[in-house]
Amino acid sequence: MILGSVVDSDVNEKRIAVSLDTVKKCISNGFSVQLEKNFGRNSNIHDSELEKLGTKIVSKEEIYKTSDIIIQINCPNEIEISLIKDGAVLIGSFFPHLNKDKINKLLKKNIKIFSLELLPRITRAQSMDILSSQANLAGYKAVIDSVYEFNRAVPMMMTAAGTITPAKFFIIGAGVAGLQAIATAKRLGGVVSATDVRSASKEQVESLGGKFVFIESSKNLETSGGYAKELDEEDQKKQEQLLKTTIKNQDIVICTALIPGKRAPRIITEEMVKSMKSGSVICDLAVEQGGNSAFSEPGKITVINGVKIIGHKNFPSRISESASILFAKNIFNFLEIIYDKVGKKLKIDENDEIIKAVYINKEIS
Ligand code: NAI
Repeated sequence: MILGSVVDSDVNEKRIAVSLDTVKKCISNGFSVQLEKNFGRNSNIHDSELEKLGTKIVSKEEIYKTSDIIIQINCPNEIEISLIKDGAVLIGSFFPHLNKDKINKLLKKNIKIFSLELLPRITRAQSMDILSSQANLAGYKAVIDSVYEFNRAVPMMMTAAGTITPAKFFIIGAGVAGLQAIATAKRLGGVVSATDVRSASKEQVESLGGKFVFIESSKNLETSGGYAKELDEEDQKKQEQLLKTTIKNQDIVICTALIPGKRAPRIITEEMVKSMKSGSVICDLAVEQGGNSAFSEPGKITVINGVKIIGHKNFPSRISESASILFAKNIFNFLEIIYDKVGKKLKIDENDEIIKAVYINKEIS
């Protein structure tokens, strides 16, 4: 069975979906692996290293035309779709509702599509959970990028020339990215507080040494799947009041709040941005889902009264080497549940709850 992977056609996507480690594992499981020339250029992997492991380096066209299994980060483009061999297996993160036409074209070619961002958040799926592995690195990188834009030191420094006070971080949304942002800011010596609408996150924030800031609500703000619910008008007002007084005293604010399938909640108002000290930084990880902060713009750093609002896109791609290693391992772990090593053939159990969730086998309307 031939397994192939290509460099993403979007030049801003620096991640790859196969690593040296997973190439080795795939080959020892009986796959022939073929990759595009310069496949690992953003991960410091040279073609010669891949070839030494037994990988064939071939053209993108040949990979699509001949591979039985294609692994890639994002949805293929129209040209790539036209090249893919009928009946091939495609694994990656394809966001079917944002890529309806492409997904439907792939289905017309009988491509078996597995989109791993649809995985259920259950214990058995943790090793395949691309959302968690990538969000974790995004939270880390958001702190690093914010500190880079912040023109002051983060930890407290007591020197003969005087004392530097520690930077104050405020993390909005204490999910996977937010918790890693808290841990990273603490490691750098920052004073950290955080907020979330899910009361379950209080203990997690506090266990990382953060102070939890919370709105009291009479409603249950968490879904049975562990995600946040959208706030109603009354709770939004409460949150706005709370954050108005909190945000003006912060040096760095990291926004990570998301509601699955909806526009990101707008949490930081124009007034809150303008209340911050010049030199402060807001980093909006939710910018591509509509943004948690006023003034944040995808792909830009906006400056308002000296406050920098970072709107970088695709944070995992900004730390592509680490992100690729984890993404590739997630995919490999998934491959193990759809591939019979002994019989060297696919075994797709459509009753398995993981496969049921990620297998796109019906047209998207
Ligand atoms: P996410 O990316 O959907 O959202 C990020 C965070 O923003 C969440 O914590 C959410 O509660 C928060 N949020 C949403 N609206 C907000 C608002 N208006 N104000 C403040 N915060 C707001 O969430 P993520 O990181 O994907 O995690 C979702 C859940 O899944 C969590 O409960 C997490 O612990 C759980 N999880 C479970 C795993 C498992 O295998 N059991 C693996 C990974 C996550």
